[in-house]
Amino acid sequence: MTLLPVDPTGPAAPDLEHDLNQLAAACNGCRRCALGASRSQVVVSRGNPRAPLMVIGEGPGAQEDEQGLPFVGRSGQLLDRMLDSVGINSNRDAYVCNIVKCRPPENRKPTALEMAACRPWLDQQIQLVNPAVILLAGATAVEGLLGIKGGISKLRGQWRQDEAGGLQGRWLMPIFHPSYLLRNASKERGSPKWLTWHDLQDVQRRLTQITTPL
Ligand code: URA
Repeated sequence: MTLLPVDPTGPAAPDLEHDLNQLAAACNGCRRCALGASRSQVVVSRGNPRAPLMVIGEGPGAQEDEQGLPFVGRSGQLLDRMLDSVGINSNRDAYVCNIVKCRPPENRKPTALEMAACRPWLDQQIQLVNPAVILLAGATAVEGLLGIKGGISKLRGQWRQDEAGGLQGRWLMPIFHPSYLLRNASKERGSPKWLTWHDLQDVQRRLTQITTPL
């Protein structure tokens, strides 16, 4: 597999599909942590690897484990509807993946060790897909990618540009996790859903800026 230098404005790898297939095959054989023993399938990604937007969630749930695709259960459906409402189709306009590629039993949060064991796969996805914008769905995605714990209410809606390896130059936007929004269904002004909708509008504006020629 070819690992590319980071340049979010540069073209995607010419042999991207081939490299991502190799990555998926390697993930399928992964036993770096105990989640490998309890999964039905590894859940690597869905969507468009040539899109400028990457969505990163926590980890597969039951539906994802069954279908082998990320964000296809109830929270994924909500995420899709919310993205759609700002003109982003998750399969056409985004590459969707998770911090951990195997389902944690009982949908518990992945441990720090599990996240660390899975991190090289995510790093390779980021290098290959080379997204200009990364949407971090929920506190675990923020913790897994940036090592920042807790406080999604404070972090959400704020653009970040981190210096950590592989992230330089990319725009990062933390949002509430859609499963939290399923439990907090109000759309009233100031509610988590309302705030998320505004965060996603901001993401759409950033994507338009990045992809519109001067
Ligand atoms: N499904 C996923 O793929 N990721 C999540 O974070 C939640 C549900």
